[in-house]
Amino acid sequence: MDRIIFVVANYSREGGGVAVVLGIETSCDETGVGVVADGRVLGAALASSMDEHARFGGVVPEIAARAHLESLTPCLLSAMEQAQVKPGEIDAIAVTSGPGLATALQTGLAAAKALAFGWDKPLYGVHHLAGHVAADTLEHGPLPARSIALIVSGGHTSLLLLGDLARDPIVHLGDTVDDAAGEAFDKVARLLGLAYPGGPAVSRAALDGDRAAIAFPRAMLGQGYRFSFSGLKSAVARQVEREPDLSVPDVAASFQEAVVDVLTRKAVAACLEHGIDTLVIVGGVAANARLREVAAERCAAAGLALRVPPPALCTDNGLMIAAVGDLLVEAGHPAAALDLSADPSAPLTKAVCA
Ligand code: KG4
Ligand code: ZN
Repeated sequence: MDRIIFVVANYSREGGGVAVVLGIETSCDETGVGVVADGRVLGAALASSMDEHARFGGVVPEIAARAHLESLTPCLLSAMEQAQVKPGEIDAIAVTSGPGLATALQTGLAAAKALAFGWDKPLYGVHHLAGHVAADTLEHGPLPARSIALIVSGGHTSLLLLGDLARDPIVHLGDTVDDAAGEAFDKVARLLGLAYPGGPAVSRAALDGDRAAIAFPRAMLGQGYRFSFSGLKSAVARQVEREPDLSVPDVAASFQEAVVDVLTRKAVAACLEHGIDTLVIVGGVAANARLREVAAERCAAAGLALRVPPPALCTDNGLMIAAVGDLLVEAGHPAAALDLSADPSAPLTKAVCA
C-alpha cells in the first residue's frame, strides 16, 4: 500500500451516457491504473517500485513484476474509489500489451484479462507509446487532424507523423539509432554519481550549472530526423575522465542543453517540412523543464502550437492507457480476444497492440 504515491483528485464526473474506460499500465516500474470517460480524467492511482531499483542503477525486471503484483489491487481500488465508479459502471478495460519488460507486462495483462472476463467487459491491448501521446488529450483535448509527436522516454525517441490516433497508421519520420533520450539522461546521471532515475536528477543538478560551459556534440543535426545519443554519453564520460574536478552542475547543464537542442531543432524542422502546425512532446523526458522551455521558445518563433502534458502525465501512468482505450471505444474499434499476448518489443505502427 505504501507504494501509492500519486492520486489524481478534484475531477468531477458530469453527465452520463459516455463510455467509462479503465486503463492499466505495468510496462516498466510504475503500476498505473486510471479511469477516463469522454477524454476526461475520473480517477487514478500510481505506485512506483523506483526506490527498489535505485541501488541497482536501473530497473530489475523481476523486482518490477513482483511490485506490480503487490500494487495492482490497491491501485485498482484506489482509482475506482477516486472515480466513484463500480465495476458495473466500467464499459471497457485497456491495458499496455507492449512494448516493455516481459514479466512486468504479463502482470498487468493478466489482471486486465481477469477483470475483462470477470466483469464481462471488452478488452483493448494498447501500445505504450500511443498511451504517452494520448496522455496529452486528457489535458488539452482532442488532437488536431494532423500533428507531429516527439516521443522521448526511457526506451524510445521518435518523431512521428500522426493522423487520427485511434484509426490511422502512425508514420515514423525518425527514431534513435542507439540510446533513447531518457536512457542518455539515466546513463549520464550514473557517470556523474547522481541518483536513479537520472532524468530528474540531472535536470535538478543542471539548475545550478552553466549550460554553455562545455560544447558537447549535437549528433546528426541537419541529417534528417534520426537521433543518436550514445556519442554524447561517451563525450560526457571522456570529459569527466579527463577533468575529474569539473563541476557536476556544469556538466549536467551542458549535457542537457545538447539533448534539448537536438530534440527541439529536429521536431520544429519536421513540422515545418511537413506543413504541420502542432507539435506534441510526450514521454518521461517531456517532464524536463529545460526541454519544455526551449520547445516553447522555438515553437513560438516558428509559429507552431506546442502541446506538452503536465509533468505527472508525461511519465508512465494508467490514465494514458485509459485515454487510448477511450479513443478506441469511441472509434468503434473491435476489442481484443482474451488470449491477447504481451509483445515486449512491439513496433509502434498503430495505437492498438494486439
Ligand atoms: O516515459 P517514461 O516514464 O518511461 C518509459 O516509457 O521509458 O520515461 C522514463 C524516462 C527515464 O529515462 C527518466 O530518466 C526520464 O524519463 N525522465 C526525465 C525527467 N523525468 C523523467 N528526463 C529528463 N528530465 C526529467 N525531468
Ligand atoms: Zn513510458
